[in-house]
Amino acid sequence: MVYTVLEMTQNVQEKTQQKKLYIKTWGCQMNVYDSSRMADILRPLGYAQVDVPEDADMMILNTCHIREKATDKVFSEIGRLKEHKKAKEAKGGQMLMAVAGCVAQAEGDFILQRAPVIDMVFGPQTYHELPEMVLKANGNERVVNTEFPTISKFDNFPEQQNQGAAAFLSIQEGCDKFCTFCVVPYTRGAEYSRPVDKIVEEARQLVDQGAKEITLLGQNVNAYHGENTDGKVWGLGRLIEAVAEVKGVEQIRYTTSHPRDVDDELIAAHRDVEKLAPFLHLPVQSGSDKILKAMNRKHTSDRYREIIADMRKARSDIVFSSDFIVGFPGETDQDHEDTIQLIRDVVFASAYSFKYSARPGTPAANMSNLVRPDVASARLAELQDLITEQYFDFNKSSVGKTMRVLFERTGKKEGQLQGRTPFYQAINVPANERLLGEFVDVKVTSATANALVGEVVTI
Ligand code: SAH
Ligand code: SF4
Ligand code: F3S
Repeated sequence: MVYTVLEMTQNVQEKTQQKKLYIKTWGCQMNVYDSSRMADILRPLGYAQVDVPEDADMMILNTCHIREKATDKVFSEIGRLKEHKKAKEAKGGQMLMAVAGCVAQAEGDFILQRAPVIDMVFGPQTYHELPEMVLKANGNERVVNTEFPTISKFDNFPEQQNQGAAAFLSIQEGCDKFCTFCVVPYTRGAEYSRPVDKIVEEARQLVDQGAKEITLLGQNVNAYHGENTDGKVWGLGRLIEAVAEVKGVEQIRYTTSHPRDVDDELIAAHRDVEKLAPFLHLPVQSGSDKILKAMNRKHTSDRYREIIADMRKARSDIVFSSDFIVGFPGETDQDHEDTIQLIRDVVFASAYSFKYSARPGTPAANMSNLVRPDVASARLAELQDLITEQYFDFNKSSVGKTMRVLFERTGKKEGQLQGRTPFYQAINVPANERLLGEFVDVKVTSATANALVGEVVTI
């Protein structure tokens, strides 16, 4: 390529004058993954990610719409962060402020009206169009993009940059399930599965950059039905086997799965694939068949118990985690008791639980028979007490055991590294920093309800 002197100077300037990109992320792991992909796509434009909002050239708020509180946070954060933009403008600088993610998708134009400081609003399926959108915004055009384009954003992302030893790989997006309480089918659009070869190729790239564990991601990850190069459609079970064959992948996880899409192949993968971690996050939401029906979950509580039993038959040491919603419209004391009973029957190693939050545009938002907030709070407290007891018990039962831990980051205390056990327990270990990014045998020495402490096993 022949450069003119001017072009060469511009190139050098682009390389040396890095622009600062600040991204704040809320919500699920899909959003965490998307944020890192947005950084990847903006890097060739000269943007380098920074940890603080001060003096940034572009600020992206990657938002979550799942509960009312999550959405409210976004607007209060815009109020807080706009001071940085004002400060920069007062000095004659410029800062682009963008709202991305599920609130952007759901609220679109309304965000621009409510927050004049915002320059760009774009939904989760448009991130590959970021270069064009930034160009427009730099030309002083306010951008709103909430399309669901026909081409997949995945095919237009550059290669991933280093995500570290525990990397995420998005294999599936969107949701066709329409649970009556949930905004995801509206904010993320229809289910889409990436082709098998693209996923395997990305797993190889991640390993080349130092990944040892890969978490396969999707809103409904086990609804995965991606095409292989031979034209056959593969489910998640077969895909896990293929990813396990990638040299250098030492551990595989996947999240989030739906009970309705657990099939024999997936259960077999837990039996046959040694690298598949013995931990499964399988949200059930409620233990009452009446509530499960009203939620449109399309399975019963006994079907859930059956899946758990089959998984345990396939892999005896597997542990479970779940999501629960308390106070769904129409939930009686008996329904709540059914949920408590399910928790007692299954015994979880961890769980997330939420008070039902009515979301505009979802079918449940029109339901009557609302549960009184104080009743919902009391149910949530009871449920959380029981779950905490269960995972404290599980953590205590780990003391004295030796487990393979992947050290992902430095710990809060000096001289400590932090990682996860195969059962997804957080663990802090005094260890040399050169072990960062490595799988190491660790003996668990003590436990709290939230985390473990251990020591490196030396031979
Ligand atoms: N796809 C996953 C969950 C995605 S959303 C599944 O089907 O299980 C993550 C969790 O947020 C849900 O499992 C649910 O427990 C919670 N959640 C979703 N919508 C909610 C609402 N309107 N109110 C309270 N919690 C909600
Ligand atoms: Fe939401 Fe249900 Fe889809 Fe999960 S399966 S993302 S809860 S609609
Ligand atoms: Fe939230 Fe969107 Fe994820 S609503 S939970 S960020 S899919």
